[in-house]
Amino acid sequence: MRKKVVIANWKMNYDFYETTSFIRNFLNVISERNINHDKEIILAPSFPFLHISNQILQGTTLNVAAQNIHQKEKGSYTGEVSALMLKSIGIQKVILGHSERREFCFEKNNILLEKIKIALKYDLNIIFCVGESFIERNDNKQFEIVKNQLKKTVFHCSLDEIKSFYIAYEPIWAIGTGKTATFEQAQTMHEFIRILFLEKYGENISNKISILYGGSINDTNARDLFSQKDIDGGLIGNSSLKLEKFLKIVQS
Ligand code: PGA
Repeated sequence: MRKKVVIANWKMNYDFYETTSFIRNFLNVISERNINHDKEIILAPSFPFLHISNQILQGTTLNVAAQNIHQKEKGSYTGEVSALMLKSIGIQKVILGHSERREFCFEKNNILLEKIKIALKYDLNIIFCVGESFIERNDNKQFEIVKNQLKKTVFHCSLDEIKSFYIAYEPIWAIGTGKTATFEQAQTMHEFIRILFLEKYGENISNKISILYGGSINDTNARDLFSQKDIDGGLIGNSSLKLEKFLKIVQS
C-alpha cells in the first residue's frame, strides 16, 4: 500500500506565535480526541520557525519540511538558506519547484535540478511540484508541460535517488483560487504521472511513489480527491491555516 501524505504549506503566512501555537494545539487536539488517521503529516513553516517546529514535534509522528533551499552548497549568497543549514538543525524534507517560486523567483528547470542535486547530497526528502497554467490547460498542453517539467528535473535522478521523492501535481490555475481540478482531471493527470514513472523507473517505484494533489483542497473536497486511485494525499495551502479544516482534511 502506498503512503498517504498530507502536507501543510504555510507559505509566508504564520509568525512565530501562530506557528508554534498551531502545532501545539494540533498535537493536543489529536491526542485529546484520540484521532486516528492513516496519513503521514508534514508541516512546512517559514525558515525562522523550522527549528522550533521540529523541536515541538520531537517524539511525534509528524514531520517538518522547508519551503525552499538555495541551489549552491555555501558562499556569498546574501539572504539564502542552504541544504546543509537545514540538515544541521535536523530538517529532513524540502518542497521544491512550487509554482510560486517558479513564477516570482524565476526558478527554471535547470535551477530546480541543481536544487534537487544539493538536496539529495544532504539526504533531504524532496516534495517536488509540477503543474500547468490556465492557458496551457486551455490549449490542452497540460500533459506535455508536466512531462517536460519532470524530464528536465526529477528524471535526471537515479533509481536509488528517486526513492527520496514525493511528487505534487499542482495545476497553477487551482492554487489559491478556489477552483479545484475535478476529480477526473486530477486522477487523469496522476495516472499519467504514474505511467511516466513506470516507463522511467519500473513498476516498483511507480507503485510506491506518493503523488499528491495540490490546489484549493478544502475540508469538503478532500475526501473525494483522496479516494481517487492515483491520488495519495495533498499539498494544502489556505485550508492548512485553519486547525479544524486541516484536521478534517487529515481525516479525509
Ligand atoms: P492552496 O495552495 O491550497 O491555497 O490552493 C496549495 C499550494 O500552493 O501548495
